[in-house]
Amino acid sequence: MIDHKTLEPKIVDTVAKLNQLYGAAPEVAVVLGSGWAGAVSHVEEAQHLPYTELSAFPQPKVEGHVNEIVVGKIGSQRVVMLRGRAHTYESGDCTGMAGALRSLARWGVKLVLQTNASGSLRPHMPPGSLMLISDHINAPQRSPLIGEPGSSRFCDMSAAYDLELRSHAKALAKERNQILGEGVYCWAVGPQFETPAEIRMFAAWGADAVGMSTVPETILARHAGLRVMGLALMTNMAAGLSDEALTHALTLQQAQVSGERAAGFLAALVASFATLPSLQA
Ligand code: HPA
Repeated sequence: MIDHKTLEPKIVDTVAKLNQLYGAAPEVAVVLGSGWAGAVSHVEEAQHLPYTELSAFPQPKVEGHVNEIVVGKIGSQRVVMLRGRAHTYESGDCTGMAGALRSLARWGVKLVLQTNASGSLRPHMPPGSLMLISDHINAPQRSPLIGEPGSSRFCDMSAAYDLELRSHAKALAKERNQILGEGVYCWAVGPQFETPAEIRMFAAWGADAVGMSTVPETILARHAGLRVMGLALMTNMAAGLSDEALTHALTLQQAQVSGERAAGFLAALVASFATLPSLQA
């Protein structure tokens, strides 16, 4: 549960620092999941700042991981990229990104584009495929908004993944001959992979992809008034759908193989937002 007494001053401090260092907020924030780190190389005039300088951001527990924001431009679109997210499987806490997302919203960011690595439940989306997230299933039925005061906690999730921005992404994919699936992302807490029986159940529920992130952040972002988009990179067929045993190494390896192309599409998408009146208003 979020401790507002301790989080609020951190958010105030973080927003002041972001304003001081970078001025007005970029319209677009990108959360980089596994396999998507290559997107950073597309950022021009990039300025890096570690999360340790931003008290509302998740503070890394393991050294060696890159946890930083990268502020800059892709084409004429200003952007802030977040490298490193807090996962529920690290601590059992699903509120780890609350301070970061609320700071971005208060700074003036309008859109959070989430990226992740996922297991595919659909044969037409083999490893390497990209999927635009149309909706999600919160399978564990856990909420980062538990304990939140006021009526804003009852936030509408019926169009959580922005329809206008999805249409825009699909048109761009067509233009670039980029195959882009669209479907429902199902959250599994992890860190263990799912069983084949769980995957059959998720498929029967209407899930197209499964992964261990994104859903708590989407809930937090919508509650903070941010627009949300999600892009999932399929790194493997989900449990029971291929002969291969699932390992972290396998997902990382596939993420590396297809990550560069995914990052290229992501960069083109971010650049194209500069032409969207509803984001620039
Ligand atoms: N399951 C959960 N999370 C994942 C998977 C998966 O198969 N692949 C990549 N992240």
